[in-house]
Amino acid sequence: MFDINKVREDFPVLRETKDGKPIVYADSACMALKPQQVINTLVDYYTKFTACAGRSPHKFSRETTKKYEDAREKASTFINAKDPSEIVWTRNTTEALNLASGVLQLDGSETIICTSESHNSNLVKWIFLANNNKIKLNILNTDKNGLFKLDQLIEVVESCKDGKFVVSLTHVSNVTAAIIDVKEIAKIVHQREGIFLLDAAQSFPHQPIDVKEMDIDFMGVSMHKACGPTGMGFLYGKYELLEKINPLIYGGEAIADLVLPKTIKFAPPPSRFEAGLQNYAGAIASGAAIDYLDSLGIDKIQSYETKLSNTLMKGLNEFGDQISIVGPKNPNKRVALAAIDLKEINSHEIAILMDDMYNIALRSGYHCTHGFHHALGLEQGTLRPSWYLYNTIDEIDIFLEALRELLDTLG
Ligand code: ALA
Repeated sequence: MFDINKVREDFPVLRETKDGKPIVYADSACMALKPQQVINTLVDYYTKFTACAGRSPHKFSRETTKKYEDAREKASTFINAKDPSEIVWTRNTTEALNLASGVLQLDGSETIICTSESHNSNLVKWIFLANNNKIKLNILNTDKNGLFKLDQLIEVVESCKDGKFVVSLTHVSNVTAAIIDVKEIAKIVHQREGIFLLDAAQSFPHQPIDVKEMDIDFMGVSMHKACGPTGMGFLYGKYELLEKINPLIYGGEAIADLVLPKTIKFAPPPSRFEAGLQNYAGAIASGAAIDYLDSLGIDKIQSYETKLSNTLMKGLNEFGDQISIVGPKNPNKRVALAAIDLKEINSHEIAILMDDMYNIALRSGYHCTHGFHHALGLEQGTLRPSWYLYNTIDEIDIFLEALRELLDTLG
């Protein structure tokens, strides 16, 4: 049983008000709110045993090391990885995907296949490398309904199968809200011996992910979108693939040994990728965030959010031609967010009025998908409410009512 009133009590920031009115937080695709359980873990680290992991032999350090590695194990278990050593702590999905790109030889022989609705974090590096003739790039077009053509993907991977190729896709788009069929796509990629990389920033917080069953090679996750602390994420990678990658950052624990003047022996993964003092508090609190999601049940969270998605889409459909929604029409094929095209009205203007007049926190603009917005002619940007496990149906109604009032006034 998912008890929303009890869940809301875990989030102290929901008790905040402005001008005596509660705040409706609808920006969780950008940053999720933090439950007290996660906040307590951060405070504990800073007040009870602050130290660095994996280095010094004293008690504080040993406790930090244990909690840091326990958190890695929690992440590993949550996604059903083979071993905790397949989890590398990063700052966010962006860093995770950049790190995974180290699997490329960068000699111009390999092809990257991605899609146009991808976040900049899963596009810009590929475009940059292609512009410098380091890779070949094939960007499949995603339409306004949030779909790219699977036949086209198959055709492209067929044409690459004699060379190395990487298919780098977005599990759930932060704009179209569409959910792709990861298992089916992984099969298509692996039958032709490609590598499959997944941006799971918008899926990991909301639905179960089993990397073994889905056969994912690399996956980037942002913990701050999953009730975790800000500036934390991780890269999952199959161990045998992680072993082929060099660090993004050199130093500290990334090194097993160094003999001057030039013999470097890198540490095995994941240490190889965690050079320098780390965000120990962040990693430990990420473990607490995973415990929190686990305590609610990720499948229960998913079912609850499907109800939110249904309410949102039903309400938005009643606006008719006044607005249009990017992504699939079917609420069951999307997560509980919607990028709303307000036609001639600038999305930032409405987002600011929503905040000032109604205490509703939203994101507006291009949502780090500039290319996709331009391709669809959405030059005014889109207004994006994104809901999470602590939001209520009533809050969605408040948002819909406020949007109705503003559009009637401005329209
Ligand atoms: N990717 C984040 C968002 O969609 C920042 O808001």
